[in-house]
Amino acid sequence: MSTMYKLKNMSDSRILITGGMGFIGSTLAHKLLSLEANVTLYDAMLPWYGGNPANIREIKDKVRFIKGDTRNFKLLSKSVKDTDVILNLAAQVSHPISMSHPLLDIDINCVGNLNVLEACRRFNDDATVVYSGTRGQVGEALYLPVDEKHPDNPLDINGIDKLAAEKYHLLYNRVYGIPTTSVRVGNTYGPRHQMKHGHYGVLNYFIRKAMLGETIKVYGDGKQTRDYCYVDDVADALILAAQKKSAIGEVFLIGSGEMIKFIDMVRKVIEIVGKGSYKLAPFPPGRREINVRNYYTTNRKIKSILGWEPRTSLEDGLRKTIAFYREKLKEYI
Ligand SMILES: NC(=O)c1ccc[n+]([C@@H]2O[C@H](COP(=O)([O-])OP(=O)(O)OC[C@H]3O[C@@H](n4cnc5c(N)ncnc54)[C@H](O)[C@@H]3O)[C@@H](O)[C@H]2O)c1
Repeated sequence: MSTMYKLKNMSDSRILITGGMGFIGSTLAHKLLSLEANVTLYDAMLPWYGGNPANIREIKDKVRFIKGDTRNFKLLSKSVKDTDVILNLAAQVSHPISMSHPLLDIDINCVGNLNVLEACRRFNDDATVVYSGTRGQVGEALYLPVDEKHPDNPLDINGIDKLAAEKYHLLYNRVYGIPTTSVRVGNTYGPRHQMKHGHYGVLNYFIRKAMLGETIKVYGDGKQTRDYCYVDDVADALILAAQKKSAIGEVFLIGSGEMIKFIDMVRKVIEIVGKGSYKLAPFPPGRREINVRNYYTTNRKIKSILGWEPRTSLEDGLRKTIAFYREKLKEYI
C-alpha cells in the first residue's frame, strides 16, 4: 500500500462539513483537527442516519456544531459565510430507502445540495466545495475496473439523485466559477458507522450481527463482487481534493483497489470477529433489481492528479474496525 501523499497543515482554513456528525463526516473532523483546521459540523441529526454524538465525543470542545438541515436555506446561507472549504456530505444515503421514499431522496439529495451551491453563489462564491458522490451513480459495470470514463446508468433513485447533485456541483463551477469537485465514494467501512440497521453500509452491519453471534443473511448467491474502502482512506481523498487546485472541476472515483466476492467478505468478518454465521437467502422483493452485480474501480486518475492511493488493506481495516466496536458497540446500535 502506498504512502505517497501527505496532507498539508490547514491551520489557515475554516471548514464546514455538512453531514459532519455522521460516519465519514466525523472521521473528517478528527483528521482536520489534527491538521489544525477550524472545523464546523452542520448536521440535521435525522434519526435514520449515522449522526451520533459519540462520533465526536473526544473532540466536541474543539469543533462547532450547528444543528441544521441542508433543506433550510436561511440557516445554510448564514453558515456558509466565513468558510473556506465545504465538505458536502449530507445525504439520504440508503438505496432501498430511496426507492420506498423517492421524494425524500430528491428533497435531501437534490434540493439540499442545490441549496448548498446557491448559498455559496449568493453569499460565499470563493468557498471550495467537495461533494461526496457514490459508486451507485455508475450502475451496473459494463467493464471492470470501472473508471471515470464509464457511462452512468444508475439502478436506483439514490444513484440518479446523487448523479444530478454531482452535475449541479460541476455546473456551478463551469458557470459561476465556484471551485467544486466530486469524489465518488465506494462502499466504505470503519469505526463510527451506524449499526442500527442494514439499509446501507452492510459490511458494518454484518460486524454487528457477527459480534452478537447472529446469522448474517446473504442475498442471492453471494458471488457479486465489491471493493471496500477503509474510512480513513476515504477521508484523506476528500481532504486532498479540498487542498489541491488541480481537483477543481474534476470527478474522481475512489476504491480500495481490492476486489472481493461478497460472500468472502462475510466469511472474513465472521473469521475475525470469531463468532456469527451466515446463510444464503433470496433477495427481498425489489432488491435484486437495484443491486449492482460487480463493481470495483481503478484509482488511476486520483493517483495521477492528487497522488491518493488507499493505504489500508481489508484485513487491517476490518481488524481496526472490529477492535473499535468491541469497545463501543453499545453506542452504535
Ligand atoms: N458510507 C458509504 O459507504 C458511502 C458510499 C458512497 C457514498 N457515500 C456518501 O458519503 C456521504 C456521507 O455518508 P456516511 O456514510 O457518512 O453516512 P451517515 O449516515 O453516517 O452520515 C450522513 C449524515 O448526514 C446527515 N444528514 C442527512 N440529511 C441531512 C440534511 N438534509 N441536512 C443535514 N444533515 C443531513 C445525517 O444526519 C448524518 O449524520 C454521503 O453523501 C453518502 O452518499 C457514502
